[in-house]
Amino acid sequence: MMPCESALCLYFWMLFFSPVMTNTITEDIEVLVFLPKNNSYLFSHTRVAPAILYAQQRLKAEGGQYSGFHFNIQFENSDCVNNAFLTLVDRCGQKPDLILGPVCEYEAASTVRLASHWNIPVISAGALAAGFSDKSTEYSHLTRIAPSYVKMAETFTAIFEHFTWKRALLLYEDDAQERNCYFTLEGIYHLMTDFNFNSLAVSPDNRPDMDDILQRIYENEVVIMCMGADRIRDIMLAAHRQQLTNGNHLFFNVELFNSSSYGNGSWRRGDKYDNEARQAYTSLNTVTLLRTTKPEFENFTLEMKKSVEKARFPDCKDCESINMFVEGFHDAILLYAIALHEAMKNGFTKKNGSEITLRMWNRTFEGIAGQVSMDVNGDRNGDFSLMSMTNAEEGTYEVVANYFGANGTFQLLPGFNIDHFTLKVRQPPITEIQDKSCGLGVSALTGVIVGAVLGTAMLIAFYFFRKNYRITIERRRHSEECDIGKHRQLREDSIRSNFSAA
Ligand SMILES: *[C@@H]1O[C@H](CO)[C@@H](O)[C@H](O)[C@H]1NC(C)=O
Ligand SMILES: *[C@@H]1O[C@H](CO)[C@@H](O)[C@H](O)[C@H]1NC(C)=O
Ligand SMILES: *[C@@H]1O[C@H](CO)[C@@H](O)[C@H](O)[C@H]1NC(C)=O
Ligand SMILES: *[C@@H]1O[C@H](CO)[C@@H](O)[C@H](O)[C@H]1NC(C)=O
Ligand SMILES: *[C@@H]1O[C@H](CO)[C@@H](O)[C@H](O)[C@H]1NC(C)=O
Ligand SMILES: *[C@@H]1O[C@H](CO)[C@@H](O)[C@H](O)[C@H]1NC(C)=O
Ligand SMILES: *[C@@H]1O[C@H](CO)[C@@H](O)[C@H](O)[C@H]1NC(C)=O
Repeated sequence: MMPCESALCLYFWMLFFSPVMTNTITEDIEVLVFLPKNNSYLFSHTRVAPAILYAQQRLKAEGGQYSGFHFNIQFENSDCVNNAFLTLVDRCGQKPDLILGPVCEYEAASTVRLASHWNIPVISAGALAAGFSDKSTEYSHLTRIAPSYVKMAETFTAIFEHFTWKRALLLYEDDAQERNCYFTLEGIYHLMTDFNFNSLAVSPDNRPDMDDILQRIYENEVVIMCMGADRIRDIMLAAHRQQLTNGNHLFFNVELFNSSSYGNGSWRRGDKYDNEARQAYTSLNTVTLLRTTKPEFENFTLEMKKSVEKARFPDCKDCESINMFVEGFHDAILLYAIALHEAMKNGFTKKNGSEITLRMWNRTFEGIAGQVSMDVNGDRNGDFSLMSMTNAEEGTYEVVANYFGANGTFQLLPGFNIDHFTLKVRQPPITEIQDKSCGLGVSALTGVIVGAVLGTAMLIAFYFFRKNYRITIERRRHSEECDIGKHRQLREDSIRSNFSAA
């Protein structure tokens, strides 16, 4: 008698309270994911897709308040040019509720514009260029779940202010295609307008003019580089032979995502220059993403490893290591679930993309590897590490400082040695450096061109594309004859032909 009665009681009690108690909202969500099938990308489908599926399964399995969300995930190829955009246009009949990716800047630009116009939220662990920071119009529905290049630049602002450095050379490799290094250092140029920066681009295909590079290094206090590991070694060796590594100049390289290309032994090639390179690298410091882990991360790492092994493809280098893209796209699903749940509780539907987007911004949540903090502009605050050689005999590197973006503070670690960062002889100020480089300083940083910014004549000629492919026009100085300008023109042409062919 008693058990039956209490069961009945429990039944009515549950009936009465269940909406309040469980708080589950059920909804089907159509997700369209753009990732390259080409495994040469760190964010290829093979590496990232398992993380997205892991997040989907975990939300279901944990039975929490988000377990009523059913994510229908469809993967599409991305080619870092136009594929994502065209795919989206072609399916215009069925608009997804959420888009994840693309990562590459140019492809993301067109895709996010269309998605914003269609009121569809986009979350990407890419689209890191400075131009995407302007969310007032074309990129209104973009949420960036990985720290952008401007966030990385905050690290340099903090270091430069601390050591009162004034003048720096931004030295980068520009492939005129995806232009990752260009966009990386552009973030620094964009943020640090109070400093005297000039820039020099080198082509990945030709041998760089080493004399010119050394002259430019000589004129500056600090050199910030973004390029392939072998080329960095060549430059460091050349600088070392010219006594430019004797403490009057400081070198940094920015390597955010590929953890196997920096740190211990990054100078080592097994050739006769190893000894020289090790000495040269004593003045080379690396800025990279600060990686955190927590117990859940272990299981995640193991599961990712299993998936990659199962997919088994031949051309994958360090596939088993979890990078920021893998982590970011996992956390994207969590963030969307939190925002959608909150929006629906407040009476909105999944179709109100702008409402859900705003609810993803200005919040902190627990991601797979630790806390994820989104700023009020929908961009993730970044934590970065500074690595330096701490043992010159062994040539070993250590993290000597961390920068926390959420509170803007620097944390110095035991390995930090102030002498290492103190310039022995300050360069006399040069009043006006003639920047003939046509690099970031003059033309390229016309902003933040992910697509177009041309001379006046070009503007008219390409009016249509200016409208469709620009990120912002933020012209600092005039110069139309630069190499980068030409690259960009070519770029516009190819965008145009692709577009009109569609
Ligand atoms: C994959 O991408 C790399 C680098 O962008 C390129 O060289 C290669 O040809 C691509 N492979 C395929 C199969 O498209
Ligand atoms: C990562 O860096 C290593 C060492 O420099 C390089 O061999 C490898 O190709 C890089 N991987 C990617 C995906 O860039
Ligand atoms: C480099 O090696 C040293 C000593 O072996 C170790 O303490 C340090 O953590 C290593 N650094 C990296 C980045 O692997
Ligand atoms: C990870 O966790 C899941 C669920 O908790 C479990 O089924 C799975 O076996 C774990 N994987 C590993 C490699 O430990
Ligand atoms: C979406 O939400 C906003 C408030 O953020 C509201 O003004 C707008 O009318 C809603 N749109 C739709 C289609 O419900
Ligand atoms: C961001 O969130 C904080 C508290 O979480 C709130 O005080 C602040 O007003 C929010 N900012 C904006 C612009 O919404
Ligand atoms: C800044 O944030 C980091 C990481 O969240 C924390 O360890 C540090 O103590 C914070 N610093 C200050 C001054 O709040």
